[in-house]
Amino acid sequence: MAKHALVTGAAGLIGSHLVDLLVREGWQVRAFDNLEQQTHRRGKPAWINTSAEFIEGDMRNRDAMTASLDGIDVVFHQAAYGGYMPEIAKYVHVNSFGTAQMLEVIREKKLPIKKVVVASSQAVYSEGAAECPEHGLVFPSVRSIEQLRRGDWEVHCPICGAIAKSVPTPENAPVGGETVYGLTKVDQERLVLLWGKQIGIPTVALRYSCTYGPRQSIFNPYTGVIAIFCTRLLNNLPPVLYEDGEQTRDFSFVEDIAHANLLAAETDKLDGLPVNIGSACGTPIREIAERLADILKINIAPEMNGEFRPGEMRHLTSGTTLARSAGYKPTVDLGEGISRYIHWIKKQSDIRDYFSEAEEVLRQKGIVHRVETSNR
Ligand SMILES: NC(=O)c1ccc[n+]([C@@H]2O[C@H](COP(=O)([O-])OP(=O)(O)OC[C@H]3O[C@@H](n4cnc5c(N)ncnc54)[C@H](O)[C@@H]3O)[C@@H](O)[C@H]2O)c1
Ligand SMILES: [Zn+2]
Repeated sequence: MAKHALVTGAAGLIGSHLVDLLVREGWQVRAFDNLEQQTHRRGKPAWINTSAEFIEGDMRNRDAMTASLDGIDVVFHQAAYGGYMPEIAKYVHVNSFGTAQMLEVIREKKLPIKKVVVASSQAVYSEGAAECPEHGLVFPSVRSIEQLRRGDWEVHCPICGAIAKSVPTPENAPVGGETVYGLTKVDQERLVLLWGKQIGIPTVALRYSCTYGPRQSIFNPYTGVIAIFCTRLLNNLPPVLYEDGEQTRDFSFVEDIAHANLLAAETDKLDGLPVNIGSACGTPIREIAERLADILKINIAPEMNGEFRPGEMRHLTSGTTLARSAGYKPTVDLGEGISRYIHWIKKQSDIRDYFSEAEEVLRQKGIVHRVETSNR
């Protein structure tokens, strides 16, 4: 018998690819999304799989949530308000409250859900794990705003202060959440994992690394560095690098992330756990900007204004031993993934720059800061 899936956030980047994969695998899929305006400025995207049942609904609406959970075996909870947005209450309302309410509905109605897989994030960490020449593996805390104001971008050993080298971050690294978004991702994964243990329903929290690929919103100036840099370049504007551009991130192609969800649903090896999903490779953000300009053949160098975002990690590479031991194997490397993304974005019409305006708001609200001028 076909399994029934509810995919929340199903119109988005990861949700929509997951819907496609589940449909291909013979699942009956219900796709739930409120078509968040910031992400879907032109309404319902054409890519929503027509074999899925689409429900336009909001995570915050109890009745819509209750109706969407009817007859479901597995919930893939992808909906979230994400990125470096200036709001505070909305993150908590959509991500924390929305998740809590969904879990409450399942418990109150005694719904026969067999598993809940929740999209967590590498944003739950405070800073990537590092290696000190003297003290070995260390878990540095977030860099202080005073340090960043001085233009000292490096991560230092918490014991001796030496510059520490980035290494893959394992799941047992301290979890903090140094942005409002990060805090609400911690809420989501803790709520789901704890609830699952209490009620006896298997749950998995997948801590995705930076995910990119076709369908990443070209409208949202707050999410997805590859999408943001591409839309800048296609408008003949320079990508903006924070700090010195040498911070590194682990990038995952969206189809690999969809496969991680299917794996989490099908294996019991990850039940009850937070699990890093990434490529286990770090790439400097400057290199991303340069590679994109190169492939697009747009000769514009990235811009650096001595700005930084407090709470941002310097380096984060996902330690993926656990996921790999359960069978996770990413198949699309950064080169191929970027080519596929660019092939897609070039076919999109009317690509505008929403970043310049957004950046001004972020400066005004203290989300983007500048180093003290004497250090520049
Ligand atoms: N893309 C990444 O780099 C990344 C990294 C780590 C974790 N994640 C997590 O993965 C999940 C999916 O992210 P994505 O990259 O596909 O983002 P996305 O913005 O493309 O998709 C999210 C979808 O959720 C929907 N949504 C937002 N608020 C909603 C609400 N109140 N009710 C119903 N639907 C709502 C949006 O309309 C959107 O279609 C999110 O939980 C995100 O936090 C993403
Ligand atoms: Zn040390």
